[in-house]
Amino acid sequence: MEKYVINGGNVLNGEVSISGAKNAAVAIIPAVILCDEPCRIENIPNISDVSLIGRILQEMGAEVKRENKSTLYIDPRKINSYCATTDLVRGMRASYYLLGALLGRCHRAKVCLPGGCNFGARPIDQHLKGFAAMGARHELVNGAIIDVRSESRLRGNNIYLDVVSVGATMNIMLAAVKAEGQTIIENAAKEPHIVDLANFLNSMGAQIRGAGTDTIKIRGVDYLHGITYSIIPDQIEAGTYMCAVAATRGKVLVKNITPKHLESITAKLREIGCEIKEYDEAIFVDASKRPLNRCNVKTMPHPGFPTDCQPQFATLLCTVMGTSIINENVWDNRYQYVSELTMMGAHISVEGRLAIIEGGNKLTAAPVKATDLRAGAAMVIAGLCAEGTTEVTSIQYIERGYENLVEKLTALGADIKKVYYDEADRSLRA
Ligand code: EPZ
Repeated sequence: MEKYVINGGNVLNGEVSISGAKNAAVAIIPAVILCDEPCRIENIPNISDVSLIGRILQEMGAEVKRENKSTLYIDPRKINSYCATTDLVRGMRASYYLLGALLGRCHRAKVCLPGGCNFGARPIDQHLKGFAAMGARHELVNGAIIDVRSESRLRGNNIYLDVVSVGATMNIMLAAVKAEGQTIIENAAKEPHIVDLANFLNSMGAQIRGAGTDTIKIRGVDYLHGITYSIIPDQIEAGTYMCAVAATRGKVLVKNITPKHLESITAKLREIGCEIKEYDEAIFVDASKRPLNRCNVKTMPHPGFPTDCQPQFATLLCTVMGTSIINENVWDNRYQYVSELTMMGAHISVEGRLAIIEGGNKLTAAPVKATDLRAGAAMVIAGLCAEGTTEVTSIQYIERGYENLVEKLTALGADIKKVYYDEADRSLRA
């Protein structure tokens, strides 16, 4: 077992370079299933979710090679199965993209129900509604595997999403790329990774218009050719470092990013008193000049404040004076980290979708666990600010989404180490 040991109190200063976007990578890699030639994907983050989806493609017959730290070569021509039903598939949420990609390629997909971070119910009814509109029916096998099939090539149709869903938008896009005729997705999600997936598919010869707006039109094509493509920077990794810098009252240049993707986070950091300078591909965050203030945050689909930065921003708000209110408007149950933060001295009460934070109490070190990926990032930020030595366990969740977290934070001046420990040690805490 591994854990992070953080000696808190160091101020973050310097420069950090952001890796490729996890949530783009985990869609673009399965999208290669639709391609008729090999592809090379650059700026791939070196994180466990990416390794997992690569191994799943390998299990299905694809050739997947890491050519260097951030480049993946994928040859999908030998894929010989429409089934993805091993334990690997159960281990991640984004395995649901195999449904759309395999349906597009084979007109059939048998895929385990997706796993991933637990925020309460995570339905995929809108994905299935989209597939059904294109002529595919589905059944649930043994309560664990979704079997979706259509007798022939999928047919384009108009699909209105009842909820703005990132996954459903991307999955329907994948299924529609090689369908007959035109598919229109209305009330589509607009996240940067949706535009990235559309750009990737269009570079291969797909005809997708309107990605990044709430109406996406996809005209089906017969053939997709191989390309080299570079994934966008990770908006949430960048937002996490921006919160960490502000929480420690540091000054850091966050590089290799698209500032436009970060506008909602930048606006909130400015509101609480951080000085922010935007460059073409970087943002300078300076939280050292004056005391920071409270604010309220409501998470929303893009371009609103991202739910995936909510736990990190909430942790930052614990360090400023005054009462802040968070309204988690995307997921039902994304406050599991609150009990861990409370152990570190934070004053937060949760009422349904609201978290009320009484800020300004000094955080103190405690043994805490990462209850999910972003909750884990929040624990790391809390550890950086806390007095004493914080130990964060269950870091496998964090490593699903953050490349070289320890190295990047250490370069900024943090005192954080990854250490090995055994189960017996863990049981002492329980
Ligand atoms: C993606 O999850 C991200 N995951 C999540 O990031 C992120 O929190 C989420 O989008 C919202 O931005 C990946 O990209 C792999 P949704 P996804 O479908 O696609 C409801 C992280 O930390 N809904 O946009 O699963 C759903 O319950 C991860 O990196 C339905 O009701 O999210 C939720 O309330 C965690 N029916 C809302 O929509 C559906 O069929 C948004 O979910 C689908 C979703």
